Amino acid sequence: MRVLFVASEVYPLVKTGGLADVVGALPIALAELGVDVRVLVPGYPKVLAGLHARGREVELHGLVGGGPAKLMYGRVGRLELLVLDAPHLYNRPGNPYVDQHGRDFGDNHLRFGALCHAAAWLAGPEGGDRWRPELIHGHDWQSGLAPAYVALMPPQQRVATITTIHNLAYQGVFRADTMGALRLPGWMLDIHGLEFHGHLGFLKAGLWYSDKITTVSPTYAGQIQTETYGHGLHGLLRRRDADLYGILNGIDTDVWNPATDPHLPAPYNADDLTGKRIGKRALQLELGLHPDPDAPLFVVVSRLVTMKGLDLLLSAGRSILERGGQLAVLGSGEERLVDGFQQAARLNPGRVAYRGGYDEPLAHRMQAGGDAIIIPSRTEPCGLTQMYGLRYGTVPVVRRTGGLADSVVDTTPDTLSAGLATGVLFNDIDASALAWALGRTIALYHNRPVWQQIVRRGMQEDFSWRRSAARYLDLYRRALGY
Ligand code: ADP
Ligand code: GLC
Repeated sequence: MRVLFVASEVYPLVKTGGLADVVGALPIALAELGVDVRVLVPGYPKVLAGLHARGREVELHGLVGGGPAKLMYGRVGRLELLVLDAPHLYNRPGNPYVDQHGRDFGDNHLRFGALCHAAAWLAGPEGGDRWRPELIHGHDWQSGLAPAYVALMPPQQRVATITTIHNLAYQGVFRADTMGALRLPGWMLDIHGLEFHGHLGFLKAGLWYSDKITTVSPTYAGQIQTETYGHGLHGLLRRRDADLYGILNGIDTDVWNPATDPHLPAPYNADDLTGKRIGKRALQLELGLHPDPDAPLFVVVSRLVTMKGLDLLLSAGRSILERGGQLAVLGSGEERLVDGFQQAARLNPGRVAYRGGYDEPLAHRMQAGGDAIIIPSRTEPCGLTQMYGLRYGTVPVVRRTGGLADSVVDTTPDTLSAGLATGVLFNDIDASALAWALGRTIALYHNRPVWQQIVRRGMQEDFSWRRSAARYLDLYRRALGY
């Protein structure tokens, strides 16, 4: 079975969040099940520089967005990639979506429209001996037009299509007059099509034209069919309920393995946590925190955006310090949150540390050195850092929403005696609910045997992709009709 992933990020070449981790790991798990997966990504400078084993190149003529464009076959690690090299679209400084000043690129509709157009072209009849997918599996809005382009092909040429929603909050909505440049016929600009409130919606297109839709946790699959979480698309999602599947993300258990992680000062595992204690001390020293082994060290590794609920932590953080705890935050994003954590670090030297920017090795050291990881998200389609935390023996303190609710078991007398507890959950989006959860966590931390039990139970959870990859394979079979 030949499956083409279409995505705007892929670990380890280009990453702004969990999407890259998923796109970098799921294809490998699918390949182990016998699926021939290739990942189509834009040729950003970082991607071109990191591509190994370059194979053949195919010129593309008449691609949306104009300009010279070619597809390059290559590999990185065990991932088979197809890179769309179109310098006029992708050869720029900045991240995949914004320039170096944080402004959206003005031609994002063309940059990702071209990616989708190339995906449909690959699935089409031209070229003959090329690798031709039987199914296109797109991720998030950047891939949304691929199923629309496929729908424009003659019926006998159409391939199956699946769109995965990693985050419904980002929809890729553009002015309706971009339709022409994207070579989309006017009749598609319809509520029964890709129209979204008078505009062109990339994600709307994906959800409308795909054979199947998935999202990254069962709880989120239910939530997005409600007005509160549906971002205006809940009606459509409800209507497509029979084709909508919530499949919990896995994690790459090779990249995130405390026993072999090259970024850690000392390896460890559930049977011997000595390395974790060494990692905590090293992290405290690295971040300028008091090297106190008995102070519960809370960490955050996150994009600093409202969705992640970290404004609640700015208000509730005091409850950590009052009980002798420490807080270390790694993340970049909204100015008011960055300012807030910077100020907290300034006012509480030795007890609060903040690091901005994007630092993959430090993210690993924080997962290893922390005692608990805080994820107070307003919404969280899946969330990966709580799973990394569990694997690293860093107890997740999370809001009960989306994939957080599906992957962390709250500590109660019942779950403790059943040996199931792995973290601490709270329900309400408010600072006092979070403060309560943080207080509860610190009380558990000081009850050594109980804390050890929670830590070890979390480390034993299996979040590898094995199970979820099998569910995707099942869905591919269903979409292909066998
Ligand atoms: P989202 O995709 O919404 O940002 P996830 O929890 O799914 O949330 O994934 C976040 C990913 O990004 C994780 O791999 C996390 O370790 C990483 N990450 C977030 N912020 C940073 C940062 N500042 N430095 C390094 N890694 C980060
Ligand atoms: C999105 C979501 C996050 C999810 C990730 C990978 O970025 O915000 O919850 O874990 O995609 O699916």
